[in-house]
Amino acid sequence: MKIALTYSTKNGLGKEFNKRFGVDPDDEDIPPDLFAEGDDPRTIDAIVNALQSNNHQVISFEGNDEVVNNLERSRPDIVFNVAEGLFGDWRESYVPLICERLGLPYTGSDPLTLALCLNKARCKEILSFYKIPNAPFRVIYPQGNGFDPNFEYPAIIKPLAEGSSKGIFDNSVVYSAEQAHSVIADCFEKYNNEPVILEKFLPGQEFTVAILGNGVEMEILPIIAMDYSQLPAGAQPIYSYEAKWIWDRPEKPLSIFTCPAPIDEKLKNQIETLVRKTCAVLHIRDWCRLDVRLDENRIPHILELNPLPGILPNPEDNSCFPKAARTAGYTYPAMLNKVVQVAARRYGLS
Ligand SMILES: Nc1ncnc2c1ncn2[C@@H]1O[C@H](COP(=O)(O)OP(=O)(O)O)[C@@H](O)[C@H]1O
Ligand SMILES: [Mg+2]
Repeated sequence: MKIALTYSTKNGLGKEFNKRFGVDPDDEDIPPDLFAEGDDPRTIDAIVNALQSNNHQVISFEGNDEVVNNLERSRPDIVFNVAEGLFGDWRESYVPLICERLGLPYTGSDPLTLALCLNKARCKEILSFYKIPNAPFRVIYPQGNGFDPNFEYPAIIKPLAEGSSKGIFDNSVVYSAEQAHSVIADCFEKYNNEPVILEKFLPGQEFTVAILGNGVEMEILPIIAMDYSQLPAGAQPIYSYEAKWIWDRPEKPLSIFTCPAPIDEKLKNQIETLVRKTCAVLHIRDWCRLDVRLDENRIPHILELNPLPGILPNPEDNSCFPKAARTAGYTYPAMLNKVVQVAARRYGLS
């Protein structure tokens, strides 16, 4: 097949930022994690190589404002989309919407699902409607509305629509309304008044679960368990920005992850049932990674969904989707080929 890979590199996002705001992306006032969701060119190369090794013809485009013309001109059989985009809660939907408009098949969830999963509160509202367990929460706006004086602590504060642990720091876990006010004010300042979500802190064990495929053919890859006892003494047991990007480095890796998760059959089934139901309710397509955490009663809750999961190729980078796929026996190229295959089948292309 002729595949167009669409992506967002950190460099490409920096250029888009510069084009829109006229600000140098290396300016020291820019938060160090502003482009955290952008891919490294080595990841893009690895995806291209993997798709080529499956005998596909591959062309690749940065998901910027030239992508419309590039896709229209090249008319691939399918678009392999990993573009994270930069502006707004709908940024991951940009390339899929263009594909819809041009009538091009593409991998992954549709624009609505991508946008809903990026907005953690909207996503949780839908989960709650379908009685899928998720932590109680409030959205707080920079005008000050939304704050509930009776909210129960401990809680965690996160920017409403980010990923890659962006804006989630060790001190994002708070124990009182007073502490919450101070962290929320910092978050507004740092993230340009983006609303925040204040969420009950779930004290139990955490897992992340990768899925591949659709409907009854959907495969749940081996569950990954997180163990935060490896973090520096006194650190919160969360996958914070520090844990993901500072404390866990290829040259000094932390063994946070165990795959398959060492859990009993009952909990495994509970988590898998939760994951299947969540994917069905949110119309997840082809692939996704779901974060799950247990509450004080060991009931699995959905933390959030990543319908465009990170796929760093180097096992030492501890990227969870490829890790789960490797445990299931998929090489990196086989994993990506499976995504192409299930998407192609969905469109009746194979
Ligand atoms: N309600 C919560 N209770 C306990 N820990 C949480 C909660 N929400 C988030 N976390 C911790 O913060 C991490 C990052 O939060 P998450 O919502 O997954 O954001 P991201 O989109 O950046 O991955 C999670 O992996 C988990 O360790
Ligand atoms: Mg997460």
